[in-house]
Amino acid sequence: MGFDQSIKTSSSFYECRKYFTFLETKFICGLLVFLVMLPNAAAYDPLDPTGNITIKWDVVSWTADGYVAAVTMSNFQMYRSIVSPGWTLGWQWAKKEVIWSMVGAQTTEQGDCSKFKGNVPHCCMRKPIVVDLLPGVPYNQQFSNCCRAGVVSAWGQDPSGSVSAFQVSVGLAGTSNKTVKLPQNFTLLGPGLGYTCGPAKVVPSTVYLTSDHRRKTQALMTWNVTCTYSQFLASKNPSCCVSFSSFYNQTITPCPKCACGCQNKNNCVVSDSKQSHRAGINTPRKDNAPLLQCTHHMCPIRVHWHVKLNYKDYWRVKIAITNFNYRMNYTQWTLVAQHPNLNAVTQVFSFDYKPLVPYEAINDTGMFFGMKFYNDLLMEAGPQGNVQSEVLLRKNKDTFTFKHGWAFPRKVYFNGDECLLPPPDAYPFLPNSAHVHGVVISKMAVSALLFLLIV
Ligand SMILES: *[C@@H]1O[C@H](CO)[C@@H](O)[C@H](O)[C@H]1NC(C)=O
Ligand SMILES: *[C@@H]1O[C@H](CO)[C@@H](O)[C@H](O)[C@H]1NC(C)=O
Ligand SMILES: *[C@@H]1O[C@H](CO)[C@@H](O)[C@H](O)[C@H]1NC(C)=O
Ligand SMILES: *[C@@H]1O[C@H](CO)[C@@H](O)[C@H](O)[C@H]1NC(C)=O
Ligand SMILES: *[C@@H]1O[C@H](CO)[C@@H](O)[C@H](O)[C@H]1NC(C)=O
Ligand SMILES: *[C@@H]1O[C@H](CO)[C@@H](O)[C@H](O)[C@H]1NC(C)=O
Ligand SMILES: *[C@@H]1O[C@H](CO)[C@@H](O)[C@H](O)[C@H]1NC(C)=O
Repeated sequence: MGFDQSIKTSSSFYECRKYFTFLETKFICGLLVFLVMLPNAAAYDPLDPTGNITIKWDVVSWTADGYVAAVTMSNFQMYRSIVSPGWTLGWQWAKKEVIWSMVGAQTTEQGDCSKFKGNVPHCCMRKPIVVDLLPGVPYNQQFSNCCRAGVVSAWGQDPSGSVSAFQVSVGLAGTSNKTVKLPQNFTLLGPGLGYTCGPAKVVPSTVYLTSDHRRKTQALMTWNVTCTYSQFLASKNPSCCVSFSSFYNQTITPCPKCACGCQNKNNCVVSDSKQSHRAGINTPRKDNAPLLQCTHHMCPIRVHWHVKLNYKDYWRVKIAITNFNYRMNYTQWTLVAQHPNLNAVTQVFSFDYKPLVPYEAINDTGMFFGMKFYNDLLMEAGPQGNVQSEVLLRKNKDTFTFKHGWAFPRKVYFNGDECLLPPPDAYPFLPNSAHVHGVVISKMAVSALLFLLIV
C-alpha cells in the first residue's frame, strides 16, 4: 500500500497518519517516527535502551563544615565497559566547597589552597577532576570497589566488576539536607569522550543492610547523576568494521574502504615488515593513540562473519575478531550482534554468549565475550591478535533463507561501538538469486517491525 515508501521518504507523523484510523494513529505513527529517527538521536542505543552509568552520592555523615559522601559509579550498560586507562570524573561545585580528603580515589590537581592555614585540603579547585587509584595502594587509602585503575566492567558481562566507588569529605559546604548544594555539570570520560551527564537529582536515601542482615541503616541524603553514551560524541569515525563470506559464494565481501577514516594512513605499519618487529612497537601511549597495521579499511578492529555450513535443521556461522592496533590489548572485550536467528542459538563454541532482549517481544540480539583465562584477552596486532568462535543456530522454518543476505547480521558492535557493515549490494549472494538492494532490505525490516508491533 505504499506505506514503506512514505515512511522512507518522509518519516513524518503526518504522512504516516493517512494509513490508519484515528485511534491507531497516535500510537503507531508516534512510535514509528520515533523508531525511524532513533539512529540519529544522540545518546540512545537501540540495542541497550536503558543503558547508562549512574553516579550516586550518599551523604553518610554531616561534619562541622560539610559532609562525607560515599560516591558509587554503577555501569548499567549491558556491553559497554570502561577500559584502561579508566574513568575520569569531573564536576563543578555550587559554592566554594573544597575537598578535605578522599579515600579510594584522588583529584588530579590540588589547585590553589593558599588561603588555608594548618590543615590543607586535598583539592581546592572549583571543578575537581577525579581518577581512581591503582591496584595495590595501601589499605588505609582503599574503599570498597575502588582501586582498579578506573576499569569498570559492563553490567551484562560481569555485574560484580561493574561498580567503582570512593569516599569524599567535603568542606565549606552545607551541613544539613536543607543547606547542602548539589554539585553541578558532571563530566565523565570513559576513558574517551562520549558520555553526557544529566543534573544531580535528590532521590530516596539509600538503605544499607548490615553484614549480619539484622539491621538497616540509611544514608542521610542521596542524589543521583545519570550519564549516557553516544558514539557520535565519542568519535566521528567508527572504530570497527565488518566483513562477510559464505560457503555458497567464493566472493569475500571486505570491510568498506576507509571504514574508520584514513587519517592514520600515513604512519601505519605494514604487516610482518621490519618495522612491525621493532622493539617497543607495543608500548601503549599515554593518550592511547593507536598504531595501526596498514589495511584498506584502517580500522583497529575487524569482525568477520562467515556463513560456514548448512545442515537440515541447523546452520553454522564462524566469527573472527582481528585486532590491527599494535598498541592495544583488549581485555574483557565484548561483541554484540543483531540477527533474527539469534533467538535460536543452540551452541556457541569457545566464546561465552548471553542473549540481550532490548524489547520484550524481540529476541534477536546477543552478546559474545571471551572465556576467562582462555580468550578474554584480544592481543595486540600480530599473529596472536585474533579470537574466533563458531555458532550453531537452529533454523526457523518460516524465516530461514540464504537469499538476500539474510544470513548476515543487521548490526554489530565491538566494545559498545557500532561497526560499519559493507553496503548491502556487496553482500555475497546465492547463485541465481535476484540481486536485492539494501533499500528493499531496510524496507522489509520496517515492515517486519511494524507487523510485530501491530499483532
Ligand atoms: C539506568 O539504568 C538502570 C538499569 O538499567 C535503569 O533502571 C534506570 O532507569 C536507568 N536510568 C535512566 C535515567 O535511564
Ligand atoms: C540511584 O542510583 C542507584 C545506583 O547507584 C540506583 O540503584 C537507584 O535506583 C538510583 N535511583 C534513582 C531514583 O534513579
Ligand atoms: C531532610 O531531613 C529531614 C529530617 O532531618 C527530613 O524530614 C526531610 O525529609 C529531609 N529532606 C530531604 C530532601 O531529604
Ligand atoms: C553549569 O550548570 C549550570 C546549571 O546547573 C549552567 O547554568 C551552567 O551554564 C553550566 N556551566 C557550564 C560551564 O557548563
Ligand atoms: C599485551 O599483553 C602481552 C602479554 O600480557 C604483553 O606482553 C604486551 O606488552 C601487551 N601489549 C600491549 C600493547 O599492552
Ligand atoms: C532468546 O534466545 C535464546 C537463544 O538464542 C534463549 O536461550 C533465550 O531464552 C531467549 N530469551 C527469550 C526471552 O525468549
Ligand atoms: C557472489 O556474490 C557477488 C556479490 O558479492 C556476486 O557479484 C557474484 O556474482 C556471486 N557469485 C555467484 C557465483 O553467484
